[in-house]
Amino acid sequence: MNAELSGRRALVTGAAQGIGAGIAAALATAGAEVIAADRRAPDDTVAAISNGGGQAQGVVCDISDEGDVAALFDVCVEGGILDITVNAAGILVEAPISEMALPDFDRIMAVNLRGAFLVARGAARTMTQAGHGRIILISSELAFLGRADFSAYCASKAGVVGLTRSLARELAPGILVNGVAPGPVDTPMLALENMSQDWIDKELEIPLGRVGTVDEIAGVVRFLCGPEAGFFTGQTLSPNGGAVMI
Ligand SMILES: NC(=O)c1ccc[n+]([C@@H]2O[C@H](COP(=O)([O-])OP(=O)(O)OC[C@H]3O[C@@H](n4cnc5c(N)ncnc54)[C@H](O)[C@@H]3O)[C@@H](O)[C@H]2O)c1
Repeated sequence: MNAELSGRRALVTGAAQGIGAGIAAALATAGAEVIAADRRAPDDTVAAISNGGGQAQGVVCDISDEGDVAALFDVCVEGGILDITVNAAGILVEAPISEMALPDFDRIMAVNLRGAFLVARGAARTMTQAGHGRIILISSELAFLGRADFSAYCASKAGVVGLTRSLARELAPGILVNGVAPGPVDTPMLALENMSQDWIDKELEIPLGRVGTVDEIAGVVRFLCGPEAGFFTGQTLSPNGGAVMI
C-alpha cells in the first residue's frame, strides 16, 4: 500500500458518492484516516474503505448549515489533529436565468459557496492551532468557461476559486490552500445516461475527446495533499481533457 499519507487525518465532504467518495477512497489508500461527511450517511464509502483495510468514519452533515459544520469539526478534532480537508460536496441546477427562481439561486450559493466557506473556516480554525494543514476546494472548469443555463453554478464555482486564492495568501505559510476544477466526470451528478446526445457530443469537442474518471480527479487531490505538492498554494488545477488551458 502506498502510505505517503500514513498518520494523516483527512476530512472529505460530499463523500457519499461520486468524486467525493473517490477522493475519500484515494486518501485512505494512501494511508490517511478519513472522516467522510455528507448530507446523507456515507455508509457505502466507509464500508468500502474499511473492507479494503483502511480507516474511515462517517458523519452526516449539511455543509450549508453553520451548526452542522461546527458539529462536524467537533468530531474531527476529537480524534486528534486534522491534517487535510477536502470540500467536494456540491449541487448543480440547470435553468435559463429568466426562469431561475431566487430560492434555486440561493440554494446553489448556500451549498457551493457558503458551504465551501464554512468548511474552509472550520479547517482554518483547527489547522491554525496545529500550525500546518492542506485545504482543497473542489471548483469546476465552468468557473473559467461559463456555460449557458448554468449561471448560478458557474458563479458559485468562480467564487470558490476566489476563496481558494484569498485563503492561500491568508493562511500561508503553514496551511496550503489549493483547488481542483474538474471538467465533466461521469458521476451521479452528471450521469451520462441522463444527458442528451447533443450535450455529450458538445462536451466531447475537447482535445482528449472523452469525459474524465473519478480516479483521475481523486489522483490530483491526493497529489495536492501529499509531500510532492509542498510548493503549491493558491492554485486551481484543472483536469479537464484540454477544454480549458490556463
Ligand atoms: N461530475 C462532474 O462532472 C463535475 C465537474 C466539475 C466539478 N464537479 C464538482 O465536484 C463535486 C462532486 O461532484 P459529483 O459529480 O461527485 O456530484 P454528486 O452529485 O455525484 O455527489 C455530490 C455529493 O455531495 C453531497 N452533497 C450535496 N449537497 C450537500 C450538502 N449541502 N452537504 C453535504 N453534502 C452534500 C451529495 O449528497 C453527494 O453525495 C461537486 O462540488 C461538483 O460541483 C463535478
